[in-house]
Amino acid sequence: MSYYSETIRVIAGTAHPELAGRIVADMKSELCACQIGRFPDGEIDIKIDDDVRGADCFVVQPLCPPVNENWIELLLLLDCLRRASAGRVTAVMPYYGYARKDRKDEGRVPISAKVVANTLSAGGADRVLTVDMHAAQIQGFYDIPVDHLYAKPVLMRAIRDMHIDNPVIVTPDVGGIKMARAYAKVINADLAIVDKRRVSGTETTVEHMIGEVEGRNVIIVDDMISTGGSISQASRVCKKHGARSIVIAVSHAVLCGPAVERLDKCPADTILVTDTIPSRASIPHQLKVVSVAPLLSRAIQNLHDSRSLSVLFDKLGDD
Ligand code: R5P
Repeated sequence: MSYYSETIRVIAGTAHPELAGRIVADMKSELCACQIGRFPDGEIDIKIDDDVRGADCFVVQPLCPPVNENWIELLLLLDCLRRASAGRVTAVMPYYGYARKDRKDEGRVPISAKVVANTLSAGGADRVLTVDMHAAQIQGFYDIPVDHLYAKPVLMRAIRDMHIDNPVIVTPDVGGIKMARAYAKVINADLAIVDKRRVSGTETTVEHMIGEVEGRNVIIVDDMISTGGSISQASRVCKKHGARSIVIAVSHAVLCGPAVERLDKCPADTILVTDTIPSRASIPHQLKVVSVAPLLSRAIQNLHDSRSLSVLFDKLGDD
């Protein structure tokens, strides 16, 4: 049990200061004064300028590319706050990197998501706040509380505002069925599944559609777009099976490697993503970004006040 004062401090790492700024703007507050630079040899140099003694501190740092840099910086920020006698420290990771390495699925490989958990716990985090982890069971890698939020209410509100007739929710692979079902339930839509067969880490091939999309307005949902292979192929399969229009709704726009080019060329009309990861300079023409800042701001406020977060799970995010 940690004891903290009434002061909330939101500290922005360099991974996504824009999102941290949006969170404090929603809280009608300001970021904690902090300098993050580099020593001449490239090592990270941190100095927190505001008093954090006894404060309830929230470090906003998604583990997005460059993930290794952002991870180390987060650990240094946690250590900095611990040594500055912060009352409680929460690692706010709107995107949890390395989450796809959550088990030993072949010999002689690390469980990287567990290593992230070990280092954060040892590094001084009292809690973790995250959004749409690729594998929810990663919470079990921690012996500290992990609050796992969903971007669904934020994305669903944007979808609702598009007034889509006769929608069908599509998951690009069987692993996404649970998430797709949750989306379908909100708008009382049917469900369809693209049968994805993965060839390698960067290449996928998809062939079959389980369910009916002909003449329907399709909403493909997934937790992340990485190289864009899965989702652009899924949209092509939907088109091939007669989809009328296609909206892609994804929590995390990692957009690495050939993603932008692949998405630009895919038949999706709209690609809705959240701002858990900073926007790239070049983006696909269909991209629309909705912010999770109000969601995170509410979560931070509720955590500070020891109020439940479950109120943030089911609603459409408009209160
Ligand atoms: C897979 O299980 C995930 O939910 C995503 O579909 C996948 O990681 C996306 O990767 P990419 O964009 O490289 O196909």
